[in-house]
Amino acid sequence: MIDEQNVMNVLKNVQEPELKKDLVELGMIKNVTITDGKVKLTLALTTLRCPLKNQMVDEIKQVVGGLPGVSSVDVQLAAMSADERKKLFPKHPLVGIEKVNRTVAVASGKGGVGKTTIAVNVALALQKRGHKVGLLDADVYGPSVPLMLGVSGKPEVEEGMLIPVEKFGLKIMSIGMLLKEGQAIIWRGPLVSGAIRQLLGDVMWGMLDYLVIDLPPGTGDPSITIAQEIPEMQVLMVTTPQEVALADVRRAVELFTKMKRPVLGFIENMSYFQCAHSTERLEIFGRGGGQKLSQETGLPLLGAIPIDMEISRTGDSGVPLMISSPDSETARIFLDIAMQTEEKGCDS
Ligand SMILES: Nc1ncnc2c1ncn2[C@@H]1O[C@H](COP(=O)(O)OP(=O)(O)OP(=O)(O)O)[C@@H](O)[C@H]1O
Ligand SMILES: [Mg+2]
Repeated sequence: MIDEQNVMNVLKNVQEPELKKDLVELGMIKNVTITDGKVKLTLALTTLRCPLKNQMVDEIKQVVGGLPGVSSVDVQLAAMSADERKKLFPKHPLVGIEKVNRTVAVASGKGGVGKTTIAVNVALALQKRGHKVGLLDADVYGPSVPLMLGVSGKPEVEEGMLIPVEKFGLKIMSIGMLLKEGQAIIWRGPLVSGAIRQLLGDVMWGMLDYLVIDLPPGTGDPSITIAQEIPEMQVLMVTTPQEVALADVRRAVELFTKMKRPVLGFIENMSYFQCAHSTERLEIFGRGGGQKLSQETGLPLLGAIPIDMEISRTGDSGVPLMISSPDSETARIFLDIAMQTEEKGCDS
C-alpha cells in the first residue's frame, strides 16, 4: 500500500524548472489524498500564469503514476498566496520583481530633458535586440508613459497582484494607472514610499531580462526611495547639451553614486538638429554637455540623440519612434545605447 510519504518522496525528484529546487522543498505540493490507488494532489504555483506548469504536471504524473499500486494521478492547479510567495523568496523583499534580471532606471537631475522619451525608446530598443522587457513609470510628478505608448485603463488584479498592461510587446505599469482620473496628489514622504512599494512589490512582472524605470526628475524623496528599494538598480543619466543643465545632472550622479547605484553612462538628448537638406548639424542648445560630464566623471557618453521632429510628432501620438521609424538614424542611436547598456551591465 502506498501512502502520502511515498508520494512525497518521489516528488522530491521533480524540480520547479525556473527555481531549480524540488516541488516538495518549495512547498508546492498540497492536499495529497490516496483512495484505492487513485492519487489526488494540488500543485501550488507561484502564479497560475506560470508557462511551465504543464511540464511540471506531466512530470508529477509520470513519477507518481510509476509507484506500484497507483491507478490514476489527478493534479489540481492552485496559486500560492502572497504570503507563501514571500516565504519562497525571502531574500528578495520585492516579490513582484524577483524574476527581473536587470533594472535600469532612466534619470536626470532636471525635468523636461526627455527622460520618458528615452526610457520608452530604450525599452523598445532592448526588446528589439531580443530581450523580454518591462517598463515602469515611476514618475510620481507626471506619469506620461501611458500617453506616450497609447495605453489607458486600469491594470487587472490577479491573486492580489497587479498585472502589467502589454503594448508593443512591453509589459507596462505606470503610477498613473493607480491614480483615479484627474486625481492630483501632493506627495509627501510616506505616501511616496507607499505608492512606490506597491509599484515594485505588487506587480506581477514575471520573467524579465530588463525592467526599465522612468524615474521622476530631480534628486528628491521619490528618486531616493526607488533607489533604496532596488539594490541592484543601475542608472542611465539623461542630460542636454547646455551648461545650465549640468549642475542638476551632477547632483543626481553624486546621489546615485553615493547610494551605490552605478551610473552606466550619459545620454545627451536634443544634442543637435540635422537639417534634411544638408549634412550640417545645428547645435541649437549649445554643445558638449554630455562630453563634459563624461570627462569630469570618467563615465561614458553612451549616445547623443538629435532633436528629431519624429520624436516630437510621436510624443503624444501613442506610437513612439522605435515603432514608427524603426529604420531611422535616431532609432539606430537608441539601438546602439541598448547594446552598450547590455555590455555595461556585465562589468559594473
Ligand atoms: N530628441 C528629441 N527631439 C524632439 N523632441 C523631443 C526630443 N526629446 C524629447 N522631446 C520632446 O520633449 C518633450 C519632453 O520630453 P519628455 O516628456 O520625454 O521629457 P521628461 O524628461 O520625461 O519630462 P518630465 O520631467 O516632465 O517627465 C516631449 O514633448 C518630447 O516629445
Ligand atoms: Mg517624463
